Amino acid sequence: MNSEKLKIAVLGGTGNIGEGMVLRLALQNLMPEGVKNEVIIGSRSKETAKEAAKQALSELENCGFDTSGITITGNSNLEAAQAAKIIIPTIRFDYVLPLLNDIREALENKILITPVVPMVKEGDLFVYKPPEEGSAALAIQKNVPASTKVVAAFHNIPAGKLRDVVKCKAVHHALVCSDDAEAKKLVIKLTEHMGCLKPLDGGSLKQASTMESLTPLLINLAKLNGLKDLGINFS
Ligand SMILES: NC(=O)c1ccc[n+]([C@@H]2O[C@H](COP(=O)([O-])OP(=O)(O)OC[C@H]3O[C@@H](n4cnc5c(N)ncnc54)[C@H](OP(=O)(O)O)[C@@H]3O)[C@@H](O)[C@H]2O)c1
Repeated sequence: MNSEKLKIAVLGGTGNIGEGMVLRLALQNLMPEGVKNEVIIGSRSKETAKEAAKQALSELENCGFDTSGITITGNSNLEAAQAAKIIIPTIRFDYVLPLLNDIREALENKILITPVVPMVKEGDLFVYKPPEEGSAALAIQKNVPASTKVVAAFHNIPAGKLRDVVKCKAVHHALVCSDDAEAKKLVIKLTEHMGCLKPLDGGSLKQASTMESLTPLLINLAKLNGLKDLGINFS
């Protein structure tokens, strides 16, 4: 039943990591143990979001998936967030706080998953550049309502692998941290069924800075060593 499905808004879901996130979340509806959900793509432009939703559905169809049980829609960032229980802003750090401020009321009592990595390019390489709060996750927590449960996850997942829903079976670890145990448990459950990820409990939200700082390292390692879409596997 649609009414029982978990509504998930991917804000800026028209971008690199957002596209893969939308596809992987939607595909959970085809898995025996996946978290049944409806995905709402958010964008600054409602039309762009609707078009992205149409494209995501036809991409899944073209890949041979049965989309009859999948719902992907598009809306403005505000309306997407209003409708959802889980909100994932896949937006660059420079833009995310102003956006969250604009849609503040829609964040009350919601779970917000941040994959946001504050980093800058210096020369050819990226450098982690956290805000004064210590990490993007802590800055976000400071700027959202107290009732919003902030979970940090997906920082170290390369967009290319998330997006490649047919070929990519590589399993990378996805680190998840939060101060809210229940929200963290739900995000871990979501992550377990994304087809290419293996979640690991990363502790409290204070740990997010370490997780965020690994992303520029992965991008730099790929560039310096002629590699592509590097992820993390702990063993
Ligand atoms: N790319 C990766 O592999 C990856 C991996 C892990 C984590 N991340 C993190 O995920 C976030 C998104 O990265 P990305 O590479 O997917 O970004 P992106 O493709 O550059 O942008 C994502 C979306 O942000 C929206 N946007 C652009 N300018 C904006 C503004 N001024 N205000 C509000 N929204 C704006 C756009 O959506 P509309 O035009 O539709 O509004 C765009 O499609 C970043 O914080 C990044 O650190 C990325």
